[in-house]
Amino acid sequence: MRHLLSTEQLSREHAIQILDTAQEMSAVGEREIKKLPALRGRTVVNLFFEDSTRTRISFEAAAKRLSADVINFSAKGSSVSKGESLKDTAQTLEAMSADAVVIRHWASGAPARLANSGWIDAAVINAGDGTHAHPTQALLDAFTMRAHWAKLSGTPSVGADLTGMRVMIVGDVLHSRVARSNVWLLRTLGAHVTLVAPPTLLPVGVEHWPCEVSYDLDATLDAGVDAVMMLRVQAERMNASFFPSTREYARLWGFDDARLARLDALNLKDTIIMHPGPMNRGLEISSAAADSHRSTVLAQVRNGVSVRMAALYLLLSGEMRQTHTSSTVPSVKDPS
Ligand code: CP
Repeated sequence: MRHLLSTEQLSREHAIQILDTAQEMSAVGEREIKKLPALRGRTVVNLFFEDSTRTRISFEAAAKRLSADVINFSAKGSSVSKGESLKDTAQTLEAMSADAVVIRHWASGAPARLANSGWIDAAVINAGDGTHAHPTQALLDAFTMRAHWAKLSGTPSVGADLTGMRVMIVGDVLHSRVARSNVWLLRTLGAHVTLVAPPTLLPVGVEHWPCEVSYDLDATLDAGVDAVMMLRVQAERMNASFFPSTREYARLWGFDDARLARLDALNLKDTIIMHPGPMNRGLEISSAAADSHRSTVLAQVRNGVSVRMAALYLLLSGEMRQTHTSSTVPSVKDPS
């Protein structure tokens, strides 16, 4: 595999390989000197046509922890604002000998266009394209769930999948590349996924996705769940009214204080609450839920660096192209 464009195309073997490698990479983050020499002399370009905090910063941290040279490109303030095309931008990067291009774009399909156009030779990693896909977000979510699931069962997470885990993804599925990428990856890893949303915020064709669909958040909670993933209401992508009011949305679809208490009442003491960020506190999630001991929001951000280190390392080292038997990450004792 040369590029990471979506989770739909990711085999179970490659997904487990990335998660296992991320586990090794997480050890680097706990060292005093958080650096490996693995990508010394390689150049990673962060090409962001859309705003980002977590993804852009964690890709930069990941590349730097692997000793790569990093070029950060933001469409704002670049020649893109003068009308430069994706092709010309890509070829400019090619002329600078980029080895990997991490791209976030408002247009679904832009990373695939970059990867398959022949404009550049670099490995392409999709950092979120339109409403289509956000594969490294799904991988860091799976990494977070896998650590929790392994702890509960008292078994090692390395090599494990999510078989038997019940995951509920709630909210603005229509505009969510995070939901799409999670549904495909979680299915590949053996989890049981239920999407919970108002009918207006579900995409056409959702009945063909490998998951169940519910319109009733409380009934789905009552049935039992191991991870609740709340989605951001993406107001910036909405060109119509999808729900009557924010107050009604919060009451019907938000993870509020009452639903947080309901987890205790249902004796679901190990259920975690996830959110990819950025959060609309008070809308899809209450502050009490976001800051509770069940919340994995900050763990997800932390795990994002390890997962992105793994993706960069495996793609640039060529390890992803081989049949995986064991990880060959350079020893974390290697001098940097
Ligand atoms: N989860 C996520 O993609 O966050 P950013 O938009 O801040 O990168």
